[in-house]
Amino acid sequence: MTDTLGRVLVLIPTYNEKDSLPGVIARVRQSQPRVDVLVLDDNSPDGTGVIAERLSATDPQVHVLHRADKEGLGRAYLAGFGWAQERGYDAVVEMDADGSHQPEQLGGLLAAAEHADLVIGSRWVPGGATHNWPHTRNALSRGANLYARAALGVPVRDATAGYRVYRTSALQAMDLDGVASQGYCFQVDLTLRAVDRGLRVVEVPIDFVEREIGSSKMDGTIVREALGRVTLWGLQRRSAQVASLTRRAVRSANPGATWHELTD
Ligand code: GDD
Ligand code: MN
Repeated sequence: MTDTLGRVLVLIPTYNEKDSLPGVIARVRQSQPRVDVLVLDDNSPDGTGVIAERLSATDPQVHVLHRADKEGLGRAYLAGFGWAQERGYDAVVEMDADGSHQPEQLGGLLAAAEHADLVIGSRWVPGGATHNWPHTRNALSRGANLYARAALGVPVRDATAGYRVYRTSALQAMDLDGVASQGYCFQVDLTLRAVDRGLRVVEVPIDFVEREIGSSKMDGTIVREALGRVTLWGLQRRSAQVASLTRRAVRSANPGATWHELTD
């Protein structure tokens, strides 16, 4: 809980994070004692769900949502958003389970959320950084963000970032029933929806620290889905812009005529 933000729930999606999760939850509870935690586990074969259950049994502010199958980050977060909304939370945080999103920086994100609908913890604004990330991942993230900005025209430097705060009122305004994104392009999808609905989006610099334990779940399917969807959204936006420019041009060339007369 923060003074004006209200009740806050930190969502932590997990797939095979048994060695990282306890430390991350302890750090969240230590640095923000008033916020609650919900682990979103997709039936991890390594037993992460059992470990989350144990943590929850000893701490009433830690909860677990068990999901039957690995369905991707996007689906897990949508389930978490619904859980938070049903229980009247005012804001949700997205945080990776591997320590890349430092719980000690959450205070800065929550403070920014007092004057925003969506706060993005950004690696690519001044003051933001990545630590120990391989050159290939830095290049992929920078490239993906450049492409997303060029194709979609969103004024955000780190549209793929996974450390965020959403007000639940903003989630309601974003029409999440229509979200099909499953992998990490979910982050771009929701950024676009927030910007298009005129919500207040701010980026706060973070230090993204590469995980020391376990391994990334990023794979070719996730990259291909992101590339495909961003390209499609970009084309749809361009064709909508062309259609609206055409309508304006036709109207200004035919003042006084109704659109019906012009298109008949
Ligand atoms: N429940 C569930 N289901 N959790 C998942 C799934 C899934 O299918 N896939 C990944 N996760 C969880 C992981 O267990 C981890 O807690 C978090 O999602 C992020 O996964 P990583 O595999 O650690 O992601 P990354 O480090 O490669 O990617 C980072 O950069 C991306 C691109 O900028 C993250 O910050 C992503 O959030 C970000 O989109
Ligand atoms: Mn990671």
